[in-house]
Amino acid sequence: LMSQLLLLASSLSRSNQFCDAGTSSKLLIKGGTVVNAHHQQVADVYVEDGIIVSIKSTIMVGDEVTVIDATGKFVMPGGTDPHTHLEFEFMGTETVDGFFGGQAAALAGGTTMHIDFVIPRKGSLTAGIEAYEKKARKSCMDYGFHIAITKWDETMSREMELMVKEKGTNSFKFFMAYKGALMINDEFLLEGFKKCKSLGALAMVHAENGDAVDEGQKKNYRTWNNCFICFYEPHQLEGEATARAIHLADFVNTPLYVVHVMSIDAMEEIAKARKSGQRVIGEPVASGLALDESWLWHPDFETAAKQVMSPPIRKRGHDKALQASLSTGVLVPFTTLQLVGTDRCAFNSTQKALGIDDFQKIPNGVNGIEERMHLVWDIMVESVQISVTDYVRLTSTNGSDADIIILNPNSSFEITAKSHHSKLDTNGKVEVTIAGGRVVWENNELKVAHGTGRYIKMPPFSYLSDGIDKKGCLLSKLPPSPSGESQIQHLKSF
Ligand code: URP
Ligand code: ZN
Ligand code: ZN
Ligand code: ZN
Repeated sequence: LMSQLLLLASSLSRSNQFCDAGTSSKLLIKGGTVVNAHHQQVADVYVEDGIIVSIKSTIMVGDEVTVIDATGKFVMPGGTDPHTHLEFEFMGTETVDGFFGGQAAALAGGTTMHIDFVIPRKGSLTAGIEAYEKKARKSCMDYGFHIAITKWDETMSREMELMVKEKGTNSFKFFMAYKGALMINDEFLLEGFKKCKSLGALAMVHAENGDAVDEGQKKNYRTWNNCFICFYEPHQLEGEATARAIHLADFVNTPLYVVHVMSIDAMEEIAKARKSGQRVIGEPVASGLALDESWLWHPDFETAAKQVMSPPIRKRGHDKALQASLSTGVLVPFTTLQLVGTDRCAFNSTQKALGIDDFQKIPNGVNGIEERMHLVWDIMVESVQISVTDYVRLTSTNGSDADIIILNPNSSFEITAKSHHSKLDTNGKVEVTIAGGRVVWENNELKVAHGTGRYIKMPPFSYLSDGIDKKGCLLSKLPPSPSGESQIQHLKSF
């Protein structure tokens, strides 16, 4: 526990320069249960100038130190939301709030770091990331970038290298859907995967069969004019694309990250690949764990349109299966899905109404950046599907960020209808959020400041790339030999 938190502490030191006056830079969090992804123990945590200086059973301090009593509460790393779209121009409009507003909401919900998707501008990744650097200038919370690849040519390939080597990004998202807009075909997907492999970057996919979805939606629109629920994106087409992406990543021999896993079909493809030793990561999103399709059938357009996203929120049953796949089974010592995002891409009711006469034009996206930590606590920990240490593992990525939250397991509160179809009572409440050593959320009040968030660079060749070249790309063509086989098994046992 100590070494983990001290590791976190060392990364906190970078934030010194952002600690401003107004809030004490010396904090003692007293008597809480300190939790990381592996352990929990009752301890005091002392923070000075943004650094966790010490964690001990009892720490004595002077009057100049602000003391926060955490007795009976959990002291945990702040959450990381690996999938957001703030200030995203999409489907003829732009998401409701910018980086500052979205981040403030996140901090109020115990998330202290997020990774947003840079969308290329006029086909250029450089222009795209420059635009996002500008959007993020006022950040009040740490952030990183994934880069979306929406076409393929030599320039794109060169620019990917620039993004990794000069911009500190290490992940690229490929859209297998949104035909005519962001979608790319299998040939380009393969090119992109190969480039990711050579750069040690992580390939991510939006996995749906974009051709079939497009045809299905057009046909439904023609046939039914505008029945709202004709939003046609069946779970089989999510499963198909997930399987295809997995097989192509295996062919290239590069790790794969499947974003917004919404269905049993996709989840099972990921499970199968992981069991065979392939390096595949699956990310469900809070709305997919908490909601079901029935809201799309709501007679009120506004209520229904609020839940429209791609891939869609599925029928009851998918939600429970996705939940279960986040917990470690007794027989299977690893989980199928590894972390929870939000895919926060929020549009207001006026923007959603762009699709009132044609469901195909409803801007796709849901909320959740503020609610994720609470929803995962309520759905997963309260129901005893996962432990508190598992909770930390699923909601905050190790090492990227060292901020702290204090969660009271005995306080229940109401998540209001902002992101949700209806009010929802949840148990467990983030009462305090500390970002960069500053208390930014306490007593239901935000104290955030422009420019206090840092851009977090993410290096290539992570643990996912480790040793992967030892597995030749066409190994399956080699004649089997007993010793060769066991070696392959060894290399695949990840
Ligand atoms: O509907 C969604 N998911 N909107 C955000 C864009 C994306 O595909 O992630
Ligand atoms: Zn997507
Ligand atoms: Zn609900
Ligand atoms: Zn997304």
